Amino acid sequence: HNYVAIMAGGIGSRFWPMSRTNYPKQFLDILNTGKTLIQATYDRFAAFIPAENIYVVTSNEYINIVKKQLPQLPLQNILGEPSRKNTAPCIAYISYKLNQLDPQASLIIAPSDHLILDPVAFNKVCFEALSFVGKHNALITLGIKPTYPNTGYGYIQYEQQAVSDNVFKVKTFTEKPNLELAKTFIASGEFLWNAGIFVWQVKNIIYAFEKYLPEMYDVFEAEKAHFNTVQEGPALQRIYPLCTNISIDFGIMEKADNVYVIPSSFGWSDLGSWNSAWENLEKDYMHNASGGGNVIVFDTHHCMIQTPENKLVVLQGMEDFIVVDTNDVLLICKREKEQDIKEYVAEVKRNK
Ligand code: GDD
Ligand code: MG
Repeated sequence: HNYVAIMAGGIGSRFWPMSRTNYPKQFLDILNTGKTLIQATYDRFAAFIPAENIYVVTSNEYINIVKKQLPQLPLQNILGEPSRKNTAPCIAYISYKLNQLDPQASLIIAPSDHLILDPVAFNKVCFEALSFVGKHNALITLGIKPTYPNTGYGYIQYEQQAVSDNVFKVKTFTEKPNLELAKTFIASGEFLWNAGIFVWQVKNIIYAFEKYLPEMYDVFEAEKAHFNTVQEGPALQRIYPLCTNISIDFGIMEKADNVYVIPSSFGWSDLGSWNSAWENLEKDYMHNASGGGNVIVFDTHHCMIQTPENKLVVLQGMEDFIVVDTNDVLLICKREKEQDIKEYVAEVKRNK
């Protein structure tokens, strides 16, 4: 039986100041498509997974946003976490919950903030993965042909011989390498990017927690009797403070010896930053992309401009800039410095 868990608890700080801690990017329509990123993610899965088997795991503070943006989602399928502890605890939570409801569950784990241009190809890859994990104790990840040494991704090296159709055994998984290492990976031609979309049987990921994150495993084991009862909320209040803040990539994928990859191509983009939004948006003849309100430009090119709907913004003489205006914050930043936006946000918070 197939299930999906959409992870929607991140804060999207590289899209600041449009993405805010109280309203992060997965709940925004970054590409002006008429759907927010989480709505597009939900629709992609609703095409082939029954609605009652689609879950959203998010921070308690975003539950009302999720309810509003996905009214078709059954309320009991919106899972709230008492604090932000990255993706490992989030995945443990949904896995323990599902394991009780359906010990045969196979689960697709998906981020809520990616762009996928070819949903049909995506659907096909998901089915291949589900069929493989149904028969093997395998942790599958979807791999994307990399184009440049991005240090924000996981890198996957895999055996050349397929174990079945398009499924390959993973040799090494390296999460967020430094630039030097990322460059070597790209130059070797042997690596794929980790799309951050995982497929496995719930019982097998629980087994991996036991092996690679035993402390977290013990914490969940001790409280699991309370899942799917009225005691679930209080149990989570006890569990989360005891969990380390760690991603599934560092916590399990780097260490496990039963990781497999399906090299995929479905028009994937992480939409991780303003430059990736710029790449995916329509541009004017001077290569400016803009979203939101009314923008008039003079002698301005290769800029990413995002403005509030109720505001006219006029730019002159700007080249290769990110300009993001919101009701209370204005950011003007060189496009090549966009990876530093995270640090600017931290500094802003320190100075508050
Ligand atoms: N529920 C919940 N709780 N969701 C979370 C939490 C949390 O504490 N932290 C992050 N998420 C959600 C985010 O909203 C996002 O949808 C997804 O989990 C992945 O988290 P990111 O923080 O965006 O991860 P990343 O982009 O740094 O790295 C991951 O994705 C890359 C591809 O985009 C890794 O899997 C990399 O290996 C991968 O290359
Ligand atoms: Mg991400």
